[in-house]
Amino acid sequence: MLEMPFKSDVLTQPFLDYLAGQFQLDLKGVHGIAHWLRVVVNGRMIAKHLDVNIKVIELFALIHDSRRWNHLSDINHGLRAADFCNSLNAKWFAADETEMRLLRTACRYHSDGKLHPNPTIQTCWDADRLDLGRVAIEPDRNFLGAYSASRPDLVLSATERSKQKFAGL
Ligand SMILES: [Fe+2]
Ligand SMILES: [Fe+2]
Repeated sequence: MLEMPFKSDVLTQPFLDYLAGQFQLDLKGVHGIAHWLRVVVNGRMIAKHLDVNIKVIELFALIHDSRRWNHLSDINHGLRAADFCNSLNAKWFAADETEMRLLRTACRYHSDGKLHPNPTIQTCWDADRLDLGRVAIEPDRNFLGAYSASRPDLVLSATERSKQKFAGL
């Protein structure tokens, strides 16, 4: 199984293996493990510049697409991911009720194409959207957080990374 590329307080190799093991689709597909990990990287990159909850962002990155049943719109995959969070908490990570509310909301509505006033939730969504280049879609800057206007370098580096192909993934 792919190794975690960095240390994290909440994301461990066994947790990543568990999520990968229950995934219904090809792990090497556009919604598979490379996408999850790029969303982690994007989230960390954005979080350095904002007052946000990095635990929630990393958890979102790994969980948000992990309950997809197909690579099409699969309109309920966000809701399934949000419900999944409840069964994972206290087993694979420890999140309090405030963090769980943020995580479930971020998962549930992540593919609805909206902005959110909470910076942690918006960072989750931005981290995901900045990986749209993998499916040849440019992220719509009208739906990125306010930081993006002053940090076009972050948007550019994530967008470039999203278009790269990695050996074996
Ligand atoms: Fe998704
Ligand atoms: Fe995603």
